Amino acid sequence: MQLPLSQAVFPRLIWFDQVDSTNLELARLSTDSLDHFTAVVAGQQTLGQGRLGRSWQSPEGSSLSLSVFLRGPFKEPGWVNLLAALAVKRALGQLGVSDAGIKWPNDVLVGGKKISGILSQLQSDGSIILGIGLNLKQQQSELITATSLLEIGVSAELDQVLAAIGYELREIFAGDPEVSEEIKNYFQSACITIGQQVRAELPGGSELLGLASEIDSSGQLVILTPEPVTLSAADVWHLRS
Ligand code: BTN
Repeated sequence: MQLPLSQAVFPRLIWFDQVDSTNLELARLSTDSLDHFTAVVAGQQTLGQGRLGRSWQSPEGSSLSLSVFLRGPFKEPGWVNLLAALAVKRALGQLGVSDAGIKWPNDVLVGGKKISGILSQLQSDGSIILGIGLNLKQQQSELITATSLLEIGVSAELDQVLAAIGYELREIFAGDPEVSEEIKNYFQSACITIGQQVRAELPGGSELLGLASEIDSSGQLVILTPEPVTLSAADVWHLRS
């Protein structure tokens, strides 16, 4: 696969026609000397991984499956997946999609439907494997409640989308790993969960209802139930009034 635009952005880009999961593959490649920002990309995943132990569908030729190695340690690892969502939102902006929003913690939605999901996995040495899946060319019948670039009328090839995401990731993760207040505030404004009545399902299975009021300084979601409750991991649904 020729990916000239993306190869100019990632210092090392490893392509697979098919792999079980790009996150798993990058973990297998991971060594002390693996370069920061090494990327694994696949045309198809047979065992794509989603958040909270779920699977992720990456059909051949119609989705983007990317994993990026981020050399740590990070002062604020909790912010990495949130910032990755911001990078995807900004990359979509480069492609002409101006109305993408982030549902906390790291789903990117267009028109209320999910177009991209992120799975970041902290490694024992403090580095992070950052996995990004984005729906490129799936049709609505394959997507159920999600959407794709094709479905929102954007025709872009894999290389173009990958390069746009890589560029934005580098902008965000190239400098000081400490996350600036400016970026945190920018995330807050891009996060469409804030100000919504939500239902949050916690990893243990319990549920909370309340108003999503803010993202705190460590990237956690604060929900007013009405007492403030801080969540570091959950599935969140926006409730319509
Ligand atoms: C989610 O929304 O649940 C997260 C989905 C993350 C999917 C991506 S696709 C590339 C990388 N490899 C994986 O196995 N998962 C992530």
